[in-house]
Amino acid sequence: MTFAKGLQLVNRDESGIDLAFRADVLAGLASAQKAIPARWFYDDIGSQLFEDITQLPEYYPTRAEASILRSRSADIAKLIGPGRTVVEFGSGSSVKTPLLLSAIQPSAYVPLDIAGDFLRASSAALEEKFPGLPVYPVEADFMRRVELPGETASLPKLGFFPGSTIGNMIARTATDLLRSMRETLGEGALLLIGMDLVKDEEVLLAAYDDAAGVTAQFNLNLLTRINRELAGTVPVESFRHEARWNDTFARIEMHLVANEDISFTVSEQTFSMVAGESIHTENSHKFTRRSSQSLLAAGGWEPRARWTDEDGQFSLLLAEACAPRSAP
Ligand code: AVI
Repeated sequence: MTFAKGLQLVNRDESGIDLAFRADVLAGLASAQKAIPARWFYDDIGSQLFEDITQLPEYYPTRAEASILRSRSADIAKLIGPGRTVVEFGSGSSVKTPLLLSAIQPSAYVPLDIAGDFLRASSAALEEKFPGLPVYPVEADFMRRVELPGETASLPKLGFFPGSTIGNMIARTATDLLRSMRETLGEGALLLIGMDLVKDEEVLLAAYDDAAGVTAQFNLNLLTRINRELAGTVPVESFRHEARWNDTFARIEMHLVANEDISFTVSEQTFSMVAGESIHTENSHKFTRRSSQSLLAAGGWEPRARWTDEDGQFSLLLAEACAPRSAP
């Protein structure tokens, strides 16, 4: 998983501080409900911890989505057809991307990612695995419209956004992203997108608070990153990881909860927390058939097909870019 981790697109001050990271942390810690955007989890340690999470027995999404791609590959290939350029939003997963590329007959593969180092590594691995397939990595922030390589201009596109990463965004941001994906991919494009499903609270809580404590480490690593990169004095050992189900918004929330009254500094600014107060670090929205389809529609995508895994835990949807319309 690679949100924002690259060097090239990062704006730093003369001492090397990532200005966007500092701005988000200082603003987030000054809010009434303290909150830091989840994209900052993914430094090198956080990215490795996320890889470890995907292997945990409690964390079903990665396995469930891969199982859909395996078991429904013939259906998926039939609906998508051959000759599309696959544009993946993110650097690509070593498991899911090859499953898709082997199922359909793509004309090219374009991974888009803000993290250039991840992008180059995963592109090289895919070129080796699919020798005849043109691979055109593009280093870009896919939250905005991206100019695709000229070589793919006349080819029909398939957007690929697996992992239910869309669930890490609130509805407004998710809608904006779906709209920019539509602008990036153009008319006639298809989108294959993973969306995790609402299910038993117990199963969800276990997936985000595993027995081995890997998700706790992933969450707490954000504080260690703040101390290292922003000259912080956050007492990491005074915090605990907490996963909560928010039924109103149908989402798992991750929080870092203070075990006692504390105060600390970050970039020379002082912050205090009372025992029990939390820093909200992640939302992971879960969908129903209806909510996934309305989100896609709000972003300009008409659902065409939907598959779930055997246990009904995760969904993969295929949608088509809607033509602009003015009538209801
Ligand atoms: C990247 N994203 C889809 C993961 C999720 O399930 O929301 C991030 C994650 N956070 C804790 N565990 C996994």
